[in-house]
Amino acid sequence: MPKQIRLNAFDMNCIGHQSPGLWTHPRDRAATYNTLEYWLNLAKTLERGLIDALFLADVLGIYDVYKGGPQTALEHAVQVPVNDPLMVIPAMATVTEHLGFGVTCALSYEHPYPFARRMSTLDHLTKGRIGWNIVTGYLESAARGMGMAGQAAHDDRYAIAEDYMQATYKLWEASWEDDAVLRDKAGRRFADSGKIHRIEHDGPHFKVDAIHLCEPSPQRTPVLYQAGASTRGRQFAADHAECVFINGPSQKVVKDIATDIRARAVKTGRDANDLSIFTLMTVIAAPTREEAQAKYADYLNYISEDAALALMSGWTGVDFAALPPDEPIRFTERNAMTSALESFTTADPNRSWTPREIARHAAIGGRGPVAIGSYADIADIFQDWMENAAVDGFNLAYAVTPETFEDIVDGVIPELQRRGVYKTAYAPGTLREKLTGRPRLPASHPAARVRR
Ligand SMILES: Cc1cc2nc3c(=O)[nH]c(=O)nc-3n(C[C@H](O)[C@H](O)[C@H](O)COP(=O)(O)O)c2cc1C
Repeated sequence: MPKQIRLNAFDMNCIGHQSPGLWTHPRDRAATYNTLEYWLNLAKTLERGLIDALFLADVLGIYDVYKGGPQTALEHAVQVPVNDPLMVIPAMATVTEHLGFGVTCALSYEHPYPFARRMSTLDHLTKGRIGWNIVTGYLESAARGMGMAGQAAHDDRYAIAEDYMQATYKLWEASWEDDAVLRDKAGRRFADSGKIHRIEHDGPHFKVDAIHLCEPSPQRTPVLYQAGASTRGRQFAADHAECVFINGPSQKVVKDIATDIRARAVKTGRDANDLSIFTLMTVIAAPTREEAQAKYADYLNYISEDAALALMSGWTGVDFAALPPDEPIRFTERNAMTSALESFTTADPNRSWTPREIARHAAIGGRGPVAIGSYADIADIFQDWMENAAVDGFNLAYAVTPETFEDIVDGVIPELQRRGVYKTAYAPGTLREKLTGRPRLPASHPAARVRR
């Protein structure tokens, strides 16, 4: 059987996610992000297409690097306003049975003890369909909002993350034994307290002396997603991630990162196949190539290059308004997303980027490539990337929501199914079982090492 393509849908509880300005398109519904109707409709659409998971991004700050302030972001709704991503998940879980939910939570701003409870609660309520996108944040404005002088330095954030992971693994994996819960009404005994353990974590950044507040949830540790691609970020992904998101403008950039992460994972004793690697892609599809091109041309009328630069400035930490618009940008050390800047500077020596080119590139779908064409063209593009960029699937951003997702679900996916490269039914079980066939993290994973 040919390798099956995995698909995540990429959204955020906000108006302007990755296609700045396109919320103004007459058919776009992103501005209804603050209604349950938007989320329930989206979840049902995605499940109809057997999409593996809805991946929800999140930030806790404002994009205020561009032009030295938040005005552009606020006026164009560039990832602000942004509502809490966790709150919409239980509602979506009630109208779906299989769709996974990969939710972004920054570990820099919440102690592991209440966070572990929140994830376990969602894992219970979704019957084991929760994933956690482990992020440390990249916006100084988020740190200031939390009362800090600024973010920790880039590599230190990963050191803090390492400690955080150990604390949460202990809460999820080592506090309650599998058979601790009895639910014995006749015997009037809910749990065997001898099988419930206080965990003591005494790390460099976090201390936890507690019993996990939740009984074991279907997956215990949520499916672990990660998206760092700097050298330190890749090592973190290799150590912990089950699903890795990569974001690059070309197959070469993506393949180099994917190959390196897999090699690093093998060095830690993990199997390279224990990681599923997704690359960002935005699809503009229609029954014919001409219709797709016309749709793209129509969308271009609604983009905002100014807003795109506000987004890119937040990601890279570089104020693009302060640079000459037509001169190639160079890599400089910043305390934001190292890999975002690398992918437009050092990652591909054959390609340089000016701020003007970056603005145009990022205006639809952010940093990832945009695939435009008939349903068959898009299927060809997916297959080409699977082969030449060493990925397992795609993290699909939208240009216009939910239109982009509907085009994929009703047009592209039937074509992929005809070619035998996409499932025709969900696998049974939890999100982890669907993705890996295993209910729990394997012995080679660091979460397994803390188990009793
Ligand atoms: C597809 C993708 C989605 C991401 N989503 C978020 C997000 O929602 N919130 C966040 O704080 N960081 C997000 N990030 C940023 C990464 O988690 C990470 O912080 C970033 O890539 C910087 O890490 P690096 O310097 O190691 O590359 C995302 C990155 C990628 C590639």
